[in-house]
Amino acid sequence: MAHDHSTLKFPEGFLWGAGNSAFQAEGNNTNSDWWEWEQKNQPVEKRSGQAANHYNLYSQDFQLLKDLGHNTHRLSVEWSRIEPEEGMFDEAEIEHYKRVLQSLKGQGLTVMLTIHHFTNPKWFADKGGWLNFSSPKYFEKFVKKVIPEFLPYVDLWITINEPGGYALDAYGRGKFPPNKKLGNKGILQALFNLSRAHKRAYRALKKMDPKAKVGMSHNITSFNSFHKHRLLEQITVWSMDQVVNHLIYRFTGIKTHDFLGINYYFNQNISFRKGFSVPQRIDVSTIKTDISDMGWEVRPEGLFDVLMDLSDYNLPIYITENGIASTNDDRRVRFLLSFLKEVYHAVSAGADVRGYYYWSLTDNYEWTEGFESRFGLVEVDFKTQKRTPKPSSFVYKMIIENNGIPHKLLKLLGHGFTTEEVREVLEEVSR
Ligand code: BGC
Repeated sequence: MAHDHSTLKFPEGFLWGAGNSAFQAEGNNTNSDWWEWEQKNQPVEKRSGQAANHYNLYSQDFQLLKDLGHNTHRLSVEWSRIEPEEGMFDEAEIEHYKRVLQSLKGQGLTVMLTIHHFTNPKWFADKGGWLNFSSPKYFEKFVKKVIPEFLPYVDLWITINEPGGYALDAYGRGKFPPNKKLGNKGILQALFNLSRAHKRAYRALKKMDPKAKVGMSHNITSFNSFHKHRLLEQITVWSMDQVVNHLIYRFTGIKTHDFLGINYYFNQNISFRKGFSVPQRIDVSTIKTDISDMGWEVRPEGLFDVLMDLSDYNLPIYITENGIASTNDDRRVRFLLSFLKEVYHAVSAGADVRGYYYWSLTDNYEWTEGFESRFGLVEVDFKTQKRTPKPSSFVYKMIIENNGIPHKLLKLLGHGFTTEEVREVLEEVSR
């Protein structure tokens, strides 16, 4: 059979965009628990400060994403701006977010709004944060206040970003504020409350608009066993998959998801190791594999695996985050092509994937890492706040324009392309 040179086409109406979050992009979120924590615990250069000043530069950023061909955008609101004190809602901030959302909608984009993305108001954290049994009620009050204001502008709602990853980092590993190291008990307690919060937000949204499309962004991990015929490895993979990937849908009930929003960054390799009686996770630094600036393995095939696995829920899937931290944009080009190729294969195999949001639109404040980890399609000079689209953003644009991957672009999967060569390939494709 002849080799097929046609474009790897995506389904009609596919959503192509990128994401950011309020705390990481806006700057000066002084009423948030994260802000308070970083003043005490982080060196000055690792504090969020002005971040990418998206609070003031949002129209410029939206113009940029429009120029880059995006037809959707994911962003979040900062709870601590809107409700800086318990029960006290700041109308000026609500108006600000309305202007932001209007501006996006005005560009004709599909808007995906995240209500909670890792940060909380200080007053909420002082009450015990997500360990407090009443936490879902506080969240619900906030949600009920803001939904009617934002409803006209939002197409897709994300209640909570990465409940699992957040519960683990804030209450298990102690990496995120409030730095609790409570082990499984703390993680499960927080996860349970975040799940209850999701359910309440889901119900509130549906009550106000039965047609609203509501989901969450869940961090999914692919698991890869080294020895496909060792039963114990397969059992380990299966159990890890159940806990890390599927437990949240049991906690929340799958009926409270109109779609599955997934953030995909991680692969875990599972194998027997000397000295252990049961299979273990393999430290990626000990195997020869592609690793990002965050130390995370880059494994495109993992995305295919998780998409196929999640397809069993029979719900539409949106990839709400997928991206690479690298100061070498050449790698981002390969990343985009190789991961999107896997999405294409998953769609061809029956997965109902409706959209892809690269993480992130611009370089941002990257939580505990500060500003060194560069995920953006667009470079930000944090001294001047100047934005410069990287070559990868033009490759992405070409994919969006074609609603698929033109075959010739696959050349760029090779290594060592200069910016000039990337441009040449883009010209060749558009001819
Ligand atoms: C989070 C983002 C973060 C990204 C890269 C995701 O877990 O939702 O806020 O920037 O990972 O670390």
